[in-house]
Amino acid sequence: MKILVFTEKPFASAASKAIAETVNASGNELELVEYGTREDFFKAIADAEALIVRSDKVDAELIDAAPKLKVIVRAGAGYDNIDLEAASRHGICVMNTPGQNSNAVAELVFGMVIMMCRNQYNGKSGSELKGKNLGIYAYGQVGRNVARIAKGFGMKIEALDKFVKDEIMEADGVKPLHDIKELFSQNNFVSLHIPATSETKQSIGYDLVMMMPQNGVLINTARKEVINEEGLFKALQERPDLRYVSDIKPDMSEEFEKEFASRVFFTPKKMGAQTAEANFNAGVAAAEQSIAYLKNGWNKFQVNKL
Ligand code: 3PG
Repeated sequence: MKILVFTEKPFASAASKAIAETVNASGNELELVEYGTREDFFKAIADAEALIVRSDKVDAELIDAAPKLKVIVRAGAGYDNIDLEAASRHGICVMNTPGQNSNAVAELVFGMVIMMCRNQYNGKSGSELKGKNLGIYAYGQVGRNVARIAKGFGMKIEALDKFVKDEIMEADGVKPLHDIKELFSQNNFVSLHIPATSETKQSIGYDLVMMMPQNGVLINTARKEVINEEGLFKALQERPDLRYVSDIKPDMSEEFEKEFASRVFFTPKKMGAQTAEANFNAGVAAAEQSIAYLKNGWNKFQVNKL
């Protein structure tokens, strides 16, 4: 059966090689399309039984054009790029690969935070992380890795996640919070790890950001859609002490960069999971999960209803 790997942002070559070896060893056939156009996507998906993607958009039109497709695996955590309803309508199982790229994203949080706290290395005196308060919004796999690393820096850590029990956070030395206002008003650094859903989109804006203590830094390695950009812009205008770092440019990036050059930083492409290790882990997991689904319906990480 044909397993199609379609990625606009390619895997590291060692990861692509390992994916190919995994698929070949299973007796399935691999087609790898990197930097493909939408036209290429339609062509390649027409006879594929399995599809592996990263943040690549898989909409209803593409799914309709894939009559043989049985499973879609998102090599990564967030699956807001996949039309789950369209997949369900066609009886296609959608899975993600939870945890496989989370350390990479968590490490980038600190890469961006330190760069901002050291004034983008411009020679001016900066500040340290030790003893500062860090608020983690969503205590999933990435949030937990952020907490683990933050402990090494000697930070005080709090987290908010209505789906995670207090005991789990407490066992990690993290103080559980139950009110988003506390998260923003009590922490020098707030790191976002919420998925982009109808509930979270546009949910972080002016009111919350304005609650942050002096010299607060908002860190977004989640999705640009969770930010209300106009609200954040206004908050940064009114509070010259606040800073914002994001792993992907906001839609208003030009305005932000023009107005607040020294107080914002955006990666040009989403870079959180872009390490050799994360590519390898997520890519091979996606290949193994696709193979197992095709073989015997293994669906441990299914995220849609069938
Ligand atoms: C994820 O949801 O796993 C991360 O945002 C990484 O996305 P990427 O695979 O497009 O880099």
